[in-house]
Amino acid sequence: MSEGRVKVVEKFPPGRFAETAWVREGRVYEEAGRDYLAFWERAAEELHWFRRWKRVLDRSEAPFYRWFVGGEINITYNCLDRHAESWRRNKVAIIWEGEPGERRVLTYGELLREVGRFANALRSLGVERGDRVTLYMGMVPELPVAMLACARIGAVHSVVFGGFSARALADRINDCEAKVVVTQDGAFRRGRIIPLKDNVDVALREVQSVERVVVLKRADNDVEMHGDRDVWWHELVAGKSPKCDALPVDSEHPLFILYTSGTTGKPKGVLHVHGGYNVGVHLTAKWVFDLKDRDIYWCTADIGWITGHSYIVYGPLSNGATVVMYEGAPDYPSPARWWEIIERYGVTILYTAPTAIRFFMKLGEEWIKGHDLSTLRLLGSVGEPINPRAWLWYHEVVGGRRCPIVDTWWQTETGMIMITPLPGVSTLKPGSASRPFPGVFAKVVDENGEEVKPNQGGYLVITRPWPAMLRTVWGDPERYVKTYFGTFPGMYFTGDGARVDEEGDFWIIGRIDDVINVSGHRLGTAELESALVSHESVAEAAVIGVPHEIKGQAVVAFVVLRDGVESTPELKEELRRHVAEEIGPIAKPEEIHFVSMLPKTRSGKIMRRILRALEEGREIGDVTTLEDVKAIEEVKRTEQE
Ligand code: WTA
Repeated sequence: MSEGRVKVVEKFPPGRFAETAWVREGRVYEEAGRDYLAFWERAAEELHWFRRWKRVLDRSEAPFYRWFVGGEINITYNCLDRHAESWRRNKVAIIWEGEPGERRVLTYGELLREVGRFANALRSLGVERGDRVTLYMGMVPELPVAMLACARIGAVHSVVFGGFSARALADRINDCEAKVVVTQDGAFRRGRIIPLKDNVDVALREVQSVERVVVLKRADNDVEMHGDRDVWWHELVAGKSPKCDALPVDSEHPLFILYTSGTTGKPKGVLHVHGGYNVGVHLTAKWVFDLKDRDIYWCTADIGWITGHSYIVYGPLSNGATVVMYEGAPDYPSPARWWEIIERYGVTILYTAPTAIRFFMKLGEEWIKGHDLSTLRLLGSVGEPINPRAWLWYHEVVGGRRCPIVDTWWQTETGMIMITPLPGVSTLKPGSASRPFPGVFAKVVDENGEEVKPNQGGYLVITRPWPAMLRTVWGDPERYVKTYFGTFPGMYFTGDGARVDEEGDFWIIGRIDDVINVSGHRLGTAELESALVSHESVAEAAVIGVPHEIKGQAVVAFVVLRDGVESTPELKEELRRHVAEEIGPIAKPEEIHFVSMLPKTRSGKIMRRILRALEEGREIGDVTTLEDVKAIEEVKRTEQE
């Protein structure tokens, strides 16, 4: 955001929240700091283990760290059986609302049975421990059911966001060599139907590994079922036993792969495991959201992203919480939808993204006013830096000035929230993510890895391993080492810039690598550029992120066309469509500029800084301004090298 370093005008101490919060005293930080392994060990003791670990952390093959070594666990036992065997058996686990308006409620007892049935169904298709299953679905209860069913039998799920295209889906299936795909006929989105099954059919033309496709009937759109390969969900589970014991697996057994954009064209398969991930998401969900049994917790993320994995499914369920899940668009049929949901179910904790907050801010308060939001007691934010103006609006209009806001910084790779306030302890400053969670160690360093002074900007690094950290990049351990531990020896590099103020609070500036954050979704510039150049008219392309009022950042592309190709408005549209086909609609460039050359360093690296400057100066209209680019290139070349 462009508000830059806004002075902190107001601070928000925890007030009455501290009276009842799980964590009320700042000494947890010191305690965890003194012996962080003992701290995480105590956290692990809150979970059920089939066999206790022998060592908390093994660093012998760093940076391939192993946590709770020798332990046996199954995350689904902690998310389901533990509660179903207790007084929570008939407690509501999931309150689901479909976009067209249907409602479904699943208790812990029912969820356990649904998961057991689908786990047995997967086994009947030949899915075994360690096999990969790709889940390409919308926000339906069957998605968490399928995730938990995979985990229950030791299979590894890879959820692919339903907004990704057939091509992006094919790449992700191929990378992890999934044996089974679970999808649905179609998903509802803003009153339309996204044809997920059709996309699967297209994707599978380029895939060898998939043997079976399970199709949930949801939108009732026409689909083609392929003979021996495809099977309807309802037919598959019919007659299957709801009982399927959780398979005890090693702490380090793979739980899921989730693809995320990096600085090269190919998305990375981030791997998380049962043990450490369970410990990390359990404790952070409990402490950051102050989750209590009476809470109605709603995280508005899509399960296709890490936020949904960790804080719709695994973290809250591990705590036995009641979770609200909504299928559709926030403004369907009107921008009152979210506020109706909060009122209808008495939501007490709302966890959402700055882009959504800014969206509602822009629409005006009238959609919110008139809804009873008095049940809310805590608000959360994630995905990108929240600008102070949006923070204050969220605090006042949504939270009625009584709810603390937890601005949580973390990543797909970290698995769990890393830098965040603790609502019963922290004094909040709008725009700051506060401090590293107890037992997490972060600092801001310069290019030599030396810690910088207060308020000086630098690179955000994590200096010690943490339980929910990614274990590797699927199929590419070298990339894991190089991407995350290659920049600063012995430290995990986040890819983010940040500063720490004189009181020790962190202010995240945002990505400093070639990653663009559009509405909280990560897109690699390289990925976008390779999508553009795969079009026959394009010779070269460069992509940058520019500030956007609602999305945080938007994609702007500079395209050099092949000789003889005419630069028309129709071609711009076609290229935007092409990118949507290659990656997904979220990746569509906001703007495309046709240029005759791109500014580059002598070594051939595109100088995005110049493109950004040009874009912000709004100097580039079309091909006629090419010479400007050329001129700037000459000037900057001498500056850079
Ligand atoms: C950004 C999402 C500032 C950051 C959980 C990070 C944030 C990237 C915040 C990870 C926040 C996330 N303040 N920036 N509270 N939360 N980010 O992997 O740039 O989709 O590196 O994980 O989002 O995005 P990812």
